[in-house]
Amino acid sequence: MSPRKEIIDSDLQPLEKGLSLRPEGGDKVKGQTFDTAKSNQERIVSPTAKIPDEALEAGLRPKHLDEFVGQAGLREHLSILIEAAKQRLQSVDHILFAGPPGLGKTTLASIVANEMGTKLQVTSGPVLARGGDLAAVLSGLAAGDVLFIDEIHRLSRAVEEVLYPAMEDQAIDIVIGKGPSAQVIRLNLPPFTLVGATTRTGLVTGPLRDRFGFVARLEHYDVDELKSIVLRSARLLEVEIDNQGALEIAKRSRGTPRLAIRLLRRVRDFVQVRGSGIITKESAREGCELFGVDGLGLDHLDRKILEVLCIRFEGQPVGLSTLAVSLSEEPDTLEDVYEPYLLRAGLILRTPRGRIPSPAAWRHLGISPPEKKTHEEEDLRVNESTDSNNLETDSF
Ligand SMILES: Nc1ncnc2c1ncn2[C@@H]1O[C@H](COP(=O)(O)OP(=O)(O)OP(=O)(O)O)[C@@H](O)[C@H]1O
Ligand SMILES: [Mg+2]
Repeated sequence: MSPRKEIIDSDLQPLEKGLSLRPEGGDKVKGQTFDTAKSNQERIVSPTAKIPDEALEAGLRPKHLDEFVGQAGLREHLSILIEAAKQRLQSVDHILFAGPPGLGKTTLASIVANEMGTKLQVTSGPVLARGGDLAAVLSGLAAGDVLFIDEIHRLSRAVEEVLYPAMEDQAIDIVIGKGPSAQVIRLNLPPFTLVGATTRTGLVTGPLRDRFGFVARLEHYDVDELKSIVLRSARLLEVEIDNQGALEIAKRSRGTPRLAIRLLRRVRDFVQVRGSGIITKESAREGCELFGVDGLGLDHLDRKILEVLCIRFEGQPVGLSTLAVSLSEEPDTLEDVYEPYLLRAGLILRTPRGRIPSPAAWRHLGISPPEKKTHEEEDLRVNESTDSNNLETDSF
């Protein structure tokens, strides 16, 4: 695959296809196996992109900053950055967008290029295998271009070394020849803006992070913002929807625009086949439930975790490996794919003794917690759970 793809009019469809190389979830460490990929890919509530999303998202991406919903602080900073650069007739400072999947990092990169009236060149960390790949991309840039490197935390050290002088001095050093006769030639680059995106800020090396003039963290969206995104996307998809219908989808979208759009499409199918073709509160709820997504955006696996914690273990602390065995899942999958949202939604809590359900989890399942046990009973229970934990781990 060519390490560089040129995107005309910021149409990101070809880019997204190229990026389907990316494993989903669990990309903790460079080179690690990605065993959480499958579980996440199959879930309707997964925040990472699926192939059909990629094709459809391209048409729904906001092209200008004022169409981009939410992230108010970030948007304001970005508009100042862009306006100032335009006034000075310079490129925008290098920008790093960090945050969970599906919150709008790629969209913002294309907005920067659009607002500056320049071209977006797209590549990604895993695609740039050697320093020469990046040097080829950089030397092909025209003045003012925006170079977008997705998953920048997955760049190798050798590639990062090429990037440093490019970001700082607008130059790359090319080594010609080998051994004692080798020569280093410095190639000057035109002014450009590097936009990096990462879902794992912690894995971006310090020296690389320090070279960005602006580091922006994207946060999950609130229900009102998601509702606006649903209404906007419905307009573009030419689906009839009322405010309550949009609200119902927004509430189930786990703070993630990509998920809001995916649920909207599922509900659109549902009302087209089974309903009046109009998305209302009732039809949105029925549609989401038919696809197994409940009022808090949980799917059946999320609910199964809550049931195991609340019913099987009666709210007592449960160790990760015990929980994993009870659910026939890998501990890593549980930790990387299922737990983050349950923790963020305040449905489960991590304690030093294990995972426990919060009062909201009991309420969500519609059951009441068992009577409080005495301390002695609790200790006995935890010891039993730790013992079985060890037994289960040993037997694997
Ligand atoms: N603030 C927003 N307003 C409107 N639509 C949005 C917004 N943020 C994201 N979207 C939509 O959500 C979808 C996913 O966004 P995007 O691809 O930019 O996410 P991402 O952060 O790059 O995800 P990943 O980490 O998986 O690459 C796109 O279709 C985009 O149009
Ligand atoms: Mg992206």
